[in-house]
Amino acid sequence: MKLLVIGAGGREHALAWRLSRDSCPSKVFVASGNAGTAADPGLVNLPLANPNALANFAEREKVRFTVVGPESFLADGIVDIFRARGQRIFGPTRDAARLETSKDFAKRFMLRHNIPTAFSETFTDAMLAHDYVDAKPGPFVIKADGLASGKGVVVTSTHNAAHCAIDDMLIRGKLGAAGSRVLIEDFLEGEEASFIVMVDGKNILPLASSQDHKRIFDGDRGPNTGGMGAYSPAPVVTPEVHGKVMREIICPAIRGLVAEGMPYVGFLYAGLMIGDDGSVRTVEFNCRMGDPEAQPILMRLKSNLPTLIELALEGKLDQADVEWDHRTALGVVIAASGYPETPRKGDVITGIPEETEEVKVFHAGTTMRGDETVTSGGRVLCVTALGENIHHARENAYATVDKIRFDGMQFRKDIGNRAANSNDPSIDESEKGVLKRPL
Ligand code: AMP
Ligand code: GLY
Repeated sequence: MKLLVIGAGGREHALAWRLSRDSCPSKVFVASGNAGTAADPGLVNLPLANPNALANFAEREKVRFTVVGPESFLADGIVDIFRARGQRIFGPTRDAARLETSKDFAKRFMLRHNIPTAFSETFTDAMLAHDYVDAKPGPFVIKADGLASGKGVVVTSTHNAAHCAIDDMLIRGKLGAAGSRVLIEDFLEGEEASFIVMVDGKNILPLASSQDHKRIFDGDRGPNTGGMGAYSPAPVVTPEVHGKVMREIICPAIRGLVAEGMPYVGFLYAGLMIGDDGSVRTVEFNCRMGDPEAQPILMRLKSNLPTLIELALEGKLDQADVEWDHRTALGVVIAASGYPETPRKGDVITGIPEETEEVKVFHAGTTMRGDETVTSGGRVLCVTALGENIHHARENAYATVDKIRFDGMQFRKDIGNRAANSNDPSIDESEKGVLKRPL
């Protein structure tokens, strides 16, 4: 069986690894992949990025189905292109993917469908944005409307920094077209979690909960990044919170997309803010799996991923059962020198150990230079480990991180700290039962 994964990061390495392990004998092409996908048995890198060329390839090679990793391909309409040619592809259409590609669209959609989220105003005129900020107390959340690879959100408590962020986006064009429209959003208090589901248009299959660490430095300090580490399950997503998220966010969103004529197929990711009072609000939607959330989630998946995706492509997710490893999985991202602003490329990486039942090093920004593995992007590796609980998963992951070396490597030393300090580190996803919601 031939499968195709589109993307080159850690999430795509994890998707391809899982698909290949679950569908032997198979060949999983990864476009364009990295040094990790080049080395794993059963995976084959494909140096293609153009959606039409990828669709030609899928047709010629009789690829059974394609899975899209990154949002940029969704924004380019790759799903529409594949579908128009009768190729099976797991991901939302360009229209549906506006939930991620335009924060203004997502905000209006949430308002239309009564989905809890922060109040916000949208601006294209810098003077009006400045006046709005002047009239309010902080903290401020300034968001670029378009895709900005995790760099489009500034959270600040000072008026000065808020004005600066507005000028960066609306006047100086620092984020290009993505920042030509900004949202100024009310600040939400609480704990964040990532809630990812698979959707077949109408049926929803929730995946295991997870929590990401977005800031570059320990203690959640420094600028936002794409994510410096994640673990699953996230104790903050209690069964009550889980039920609330399905009722108040996920089901209304999927129903709303059907009602608006763009039924959603693919992974849908709701970034949550969970209040002390148990309230849940939507920080953002992403139209894909999270990176690095996918790495620990897929490490815990015991069900067959190709079967789940095929059921989704056939509109039969209501027939799917999903089983999770009872253990905790935790992933530590190792990033390049200079990340997130100006990541350096070309540093030689040594000490990556062989995969074991408990530990897998997923590659992201890596490439081969002769016989050497070298850095080629901001987030370089995600060391992902299973353990009987969060403490063991952390020990296993960090013991492996300690073996890996490259110049200027950066990683957080506190991944999993919230779960490790929480009162209920033993929450077990399997106890929640299978939550399938035909609408
Ligand atoms: P986003 O790309 O919208 O997920 O935003 C990136 C990060 O900024 C989130 O993970 C939060 O940590 C933070 N953030 C975004 N919106 C808000 C908000 N309204 N209140 C507090 N923090 C926020
Ligand atoms: N880790 C956050 C994201 O994938 O957007």
